[in-house]
Parts: sequence; C-alpha cells; structure tokens
Amino acid sequence: MNILVTGGAGYIGSHTVVELLRAGHDVVVADNLSNASEEALKRALTLVREERPDVKEIPFHLVDLRDRAGLEKLFAAHDAFDCCIHFAGRKAVGESVRKPWEYYENNVGGTLTLLDVMRRHGCKNLIFSSSATVYGDPSTVPITEECPKGRCTNPYGWTKWMLEQILTDLHAADEANGDPKPWNVVLLRYFNPIGAHPSGLIGEDPDGIPNNLMPYITQVAVGKLDHLNVFGGDYDTPDGTGVRDYIHVVDLARGHVKALAAVERGCGLAVYNLGTGRGCSVLEVVHAFEEATGVRIPYEIAPRRPGDVAACWSSPEKAERELGWKAEYGIAEMCRDAWNWQSRNPNGYKA
Ligand SMILES: NC(=O)c1ccc[n+]([C@@H]2O[C@H](COP(=O)([O-])OP(=O)(O)OC[C@H]3O[C@@H](n4cnc5c(N)ncnc54)[C@H](O)[C@@H]3O)[C@@H](O)[C@H]2O)c1
Repeated sequence: MNILVTGGAGYIGSHTVVELLRAGHDVVVADNLSNASEEALKRALTLVREERPDVKEIPFHLVDLRDRAGLEKLFAAHDAFDCCIHFAGRKAVGESVRKPWEYYENNVGGTLTLLDVMRRHGCKNLIFSSSATVYGDPSTVPITEECPKGRCTNPYGWTKWMLEQILTDLHAADEANGDPKPWNVVLLRYFNPIGAHPSGLIGEDPDGIPNNLMPYITQVAVGKLDHLNVFGGDYDTPDGTGVRDYIHVVDLARGHVKALAAVERGCGLAVYNLGTGRGCSVLEVVHAFEEATGVRIPYEIAPRRPGDVAACWSSPEKAERELGWKAEYGIAEMCRDAWNWQSRNPNGYKA
C-alpha cells in the first residue's frame, strides 16, 4: 500500500516507517520537525536497505499539518495514498496544561485540515495514534476497549478524546448516508511505549528534561541527570509506586502494520488497545533496567503529580483476536534497547 505517515520523523513514527517498509509498503513522511530530526529517517533508511534494496529514499515533506496549501502540494506530488497513519501532534502532558490553546490548535486543528485534504483527494482511510489517557482514571484494570472513556486530566488527553469523537462521527455520517466509499478509521490506544530499535540507530530523543520514565532513567544512567524522581510512593499498588503497561516501540510499530491489513479489509470504525497486558511499577522498571544494563539508578520518592493515576494496564486481547497482533518483547528487552540507544547516542540525533 502507499502510505502517508504524518509525524513519521518522530519516535513512534520512525520505528513504524521501518516496519512498514520491511512489510513491503511504500511510505511518504510529512513532519514539521517541531519535535524530531530528519536524521531519524536517514537512519531508518539504512535499517531497511538490506531487506529492501529497491527503497532508494524515504520521501520526506517538511510541512505543518495546519498548512493547507503545503498539504495540497504534498498530495499533488504523489500517487494516491491508500491510507494515512497519523502520528503528528504535540504530546507533552505538562506543557499541554500550560499551553492548552497551542495543543488544541495543533492537534485538533492540524488533524481537521489533514482530514479535509485527505477526503478531497479521495483517501478516507486513517490509522490514528490515540492513547490510554482517553480512559481517564480507570475504575477497573485490565482496561478493555469496552471500558467507558473517562474524564481526561489534561488538554493533551482531551485532544485525543475529541479527535476520537470527530473520527467516529465522520465514519458514522458516511454509514448513515450510505456513502459508497466510507471512512475506515482505526483508533489505536497506546499504553506506554518505551525502548528503541534493537540496532540502537533510532530511538526516543526528547528535548530538555524528559517527561516520561524511560528517557529519564536512561539520562540518569548516561550521567546527564543525577537521580530519578519517582512521583508518588504511596499509591495503592504492591510497592506504592505507579503501575503502567510499558510496551516496546517496535511491537507498537508492528501493531500499525497489522492495523493496515484491517483497513484494507474495510474495517469501518475499529478501536484497539496496544499494550502488553502486564502492569509494571516504576520501581520494577528501575530494577529491570539495573539488571538488564548493570547500571545503577539512584532515585528519590517525590510527591505525586496531579492527574497521575495509580494503576493502568491494558487487555490487549481484542488486538490479538482481530488483528493477529501480540506484543513480543518483555520489560528486560525494553530496558536493554533503551539503554543501547541512549548509550550509543548520548545526545540523541544531535552529533
Ligand atoms: N510516546 C507516547 O508515550 C505516546 C503515548 C500515546 C500516544 N502517543 C501519540 O503518538 C503519536 C506519536 O508520538 P511520539 O512519541 O512518536 O511523539 P513525537 O513527538 O516523537 O512525534 C510526533 C511528531 O509529530 C511532529 N508534529 C507535531 N506537530 C506537527 C504538525 N502540526 N505538523 C507536522 N508535524 C507535526 C513532530 O515533529 C514529531 O516528529 C502522537 O500523536 C502522540 O500523542 C504517544
């Protein structure tokens, strides 16, 4: 299939580009590089050249999704796209609380422009990067797709919540109108992606102090930060620290390849959790990292962060049943690969 990948130079996007090309698809990337480097795509190309010598380049467009003329130009420059995998968006929870307008305008506004340009060009197949955050504070775990969506605790989460609703409405309207070519939409609700490609060539490259656990741990390990702050040691969990469902980014990337097959089958509207189905506490991750790498991680228990939930993990059974997808990597490989990437690239993609 001919796939447009928005945000394809970013963390999950670049890993997905590799898996798409490995699976034989053609890929065009659109990214404004607000949180990414084109170097990720150069390295992604290196990774796939052995298996796909026919791939000479990964076509890249430096474009902002809010720039309608820029998107029109992109669509005009390529053969019709069969599907768009839409990663592009801002994703820092804390920043979204400080700058809500910027998050709504970029994530919701950018997506609305993208959807309009897509439909004008006859492409109504979309795979959307949603998040477990749409479940809010879950009343039960593991979380299935049938669990009600909750109240999000920050503007970032609400952008995902709203975009899910917008995409659901687009699909429903086509159904109701008997549109012969209705929207096919797959909403993928990611749990907590961590790790990096096992080659150590591509990985997560956060700007400034990381917001998420694993890049924080690896930056402590590499000596850039002196200790890890563990937010909350008094949750109602086995060791008092927050429990999350960490998933290897390569497993997550492969989930998109499986979702494409569903789009090809004309899935209509489909929702899947992408997680491992196993909850891991912050301290379990710290200890798994120390064991996998031999590097000690000093940490301090800090106050809880507002909006953080105690425990959240998925039931990934629906994705296994319907997509034939299942996470293969465990927490040891996630830690090993995160460290492999960080220790080989202490400054990320910056030379
Ligand atoms: N990483 C996570 O923990 C996580 C969890 C759940 C969902 N998600 C979602 O998955 C997607 C990818 O996340 P990621 O971790 O790879 O983030 P990322 O920041 O590495 O990738 C997002 C990419 O989108 C680009 N971008 C942002 N706004 C844009 C715009 N207006 N036009 C064009 N490009 C734009 C950025 O430059 C970046 O390359 C995001 O939508 C994110 O919200 C991420």
